[in-house]
Amino acid sequence: MKVLKSQNPSSTKKLAKSLRKAYESHRLILLYGDLGSGKTTFTKGFASSFDIDEKDIKSPTYTLIRRYGKKLLHADLYRLQELDEIILNEIETFLDEGGTVVVEWPELMEKTLKQPHIKIHISTKSKNSREFKITEHK
Ligand SMILES: Nc1ncnc2c1ncn2[C@@H]1O[C@H](COP(=O)(O)OP(=O)(O)OP(=O)(O)O)[C@@H](O)[C@H]1O
Ligand SMILES: [Mg+2]
Repeated sequence: MKVLKSQNPSSTKKLAKSLRKAYESHRLILLYGDLGSGKTTFTKGFASSFDIDEKDIKSPTYTLIRRYGKKLLHADLYRLQELDEIILNEIETFLDEGGTVVVEWPELMEKTLKQPHIKIHISTKSKNSREFKITEHK
């Protein structure tokens, strides 16, 4: 397990960008953490390493899933009440086609996971301080 700290949103974005480089072969990233812990902020930095404008990364709360070409799929399963085969299928197809997937609130899907993935647990330490615990799962 790796532990990293951030003291502001831009350092969270930088951290995400460097993790993308460090774990380039991992194409499924699960982001855990309370409301406002920084999952979407992390995703913005992560996306910028794919040359996706961070301004285009929004909470996909109402759509659950947003795709950025064939490169990145950003899912937010917060509103999902139960495991949804259609959404799982979309995620798996996107991975099969070589894309990278970032999931906020992934608790519902984690039991069915077959793919290797990275889990990132974000905790809020104070108003601007966050801790990231990163674990690799093969
Ligand atoms: N070090 C930090 N890293 C990330 N965000 C921070 C940090 N310090 C303060 N913040 C603020 O915390 C909030 C994080 O919001 P963000 O939307 O990224 O959270 P989230 O985990 O995606 O929440 P949700 O569960 O609602 O989707 C933003 O308002 C951001 O400015
Ligand atoms: Mg979010």
